[in-house]
Amino acid sequence: MTEEKLALLGGRPIVDRPLGSDWPIYGKEEEEALMKVLRSRQWWRGGYGDWKESFVGRFEDAFAAYQHAKWGIAVTNGTQALECALKAAGVEPGDEVVVPALTFVASATAVALVGAIPRIVDVDPATYNISTDAIADQINERTRAIIPVHNGGFPCDMDAINALAEKKGLTVIEDCAHAHGSEYKGRRVGALGHLGAFSFQQFKTLTAGEGGIVLTNDDELAEKAFSFMHIGRLSGRPFYEFHRIASNLRMTEWQGAILLAQLSRFDEQVEIRERNSQYLAQQLDRLGYLKPLPRDFNVVTRWCFYYWNFKFVPEAWDGVHRDTFLKALRAEGVPCSVGAHGEPIYRNPVFQRMNFGRTGFPIRCPCCGTWRLDYRQVFCPEAERIYRTEACSFPHALFLGPRDDMDLILEAINKVYRHRSQLLTYQKEKETE
Ligand SMILES: Cc1ncc(COP(=O)(O)O)c(C=O)c1O
Repeated sequence: MTEEKLALLGGRPIVDRPLGSDWPIYGKEEEEALMKVLRSRQWWRGGYGDWKESFVGRFEDAFAAYQHAKWGIAVTNGTQALECALKAAGVEPGDEVVVPALTFVASATAVALVGAIPRIVDVDPATYNISTDAIADQINERTRAIIPVHNGGFPCDMDAINALAEKKGLTVIEDCAHAHGSEYKGRRVGALGHLGAFSFQQFKTLTAGEGGIVLTNDDELAEKAFSFMHIGRLSGRPFYEFHRIASNLRMTEWQGAILLAQLSRFDEQVEIRERNSQYLAQQLDRLGYLKPLPRDFNVVTRWCFYYWNFKFVPEAWDGVHRDTFLKALRAEGVPCSVGAHGEPIYRNPVFQRMNFGRTGFPIRCPCCGTWRLDYRQVFCPEAERIYRTEACSFPHALFLGPRDDMDLILEAINKVYRHRSQLLTYQKEKETE
């Protein structure tokens, strides 16, 4: 049988239809909810006598309960959810916060936005999540908090991180922007540490286009987060009485209404993704030249991913690079990339150019201390290796179709692997161009 040519080299792609689902998914529930807000003429949450009766208030309660948390404080987006959580935790100029190298830049810039200094550390090569040893190495007398990011929705090693934080008196703020619904040992992320921050931006698994929420089990932290969300007000106090320097981070009723409707669809979507991704993981494991993340089902009891990370095994590809593999797979009609972010965060111009404005605040500002941190010196070997040669990912909406879609993805992967010698020739030609 003559083999089909790779699509990258002019052959017919394996996939000739969209895989998974368009995103976001919506229906008459969202349309009705938006019309209700419109007709109510209450387009902000403050129009209700009791704030909890608003769409936003009801969503806060519903989502907090869904994530096994006591309190939810809805905000404008995920970056400001992190800022709000950091402020509630009492992180201030001169403090340091430990963050992982593999994440979206906001996990670190939110720290700088509250005037503190992000310490960027390496990740665990098995899970791509922050390494507890790397955190321990960077703790000093100025460290106030740790931000474990559940990268791709895969829960961090929260027992180890919480134990270290307790020993050192640090606050743990989970960055859950990728992990709505994920479970660690039967408990959902968000209030496994002291506080959690979520994003509801367009591509996230629960979305209103933009939005965010802070979760916590701690009454005092909840009260502070509420105040930082609401221009420094305190609940139960007069409306024109302000207690803190704080911004307006209030979520609109449009977002609250959409999010409530989206939450009612969420479990069904999680089940479809879990079913398809577990099938794909089993099949990849058999191939040997690509590997799923090692999942212990007693620890990661539910994996609700924003993107599904898996590993390229360079030794099995006879010299073909991970990037060439991804290019060939995309040409076969399968959307795939390197995480969502592509580079360890310290490689962004803001850090490489030490672009902190005229005063250098907070990184190089004398009022934050006399030390200097130079991000051009930061180098995390595992994060570098993972992003340059190993990490691959599929977007979550790819998993929302039937099982047949997974078989098509596998067929495309197999085709690319079978043609790896041609792919190597192509790669060498490109290198000499
Ligand atoms: C890990 C992580 N944290 C924080 C954020 C910030 O969320 P937002 O875009 O809603 O500000 C994102 C956004 O993608 C993210 O991926």
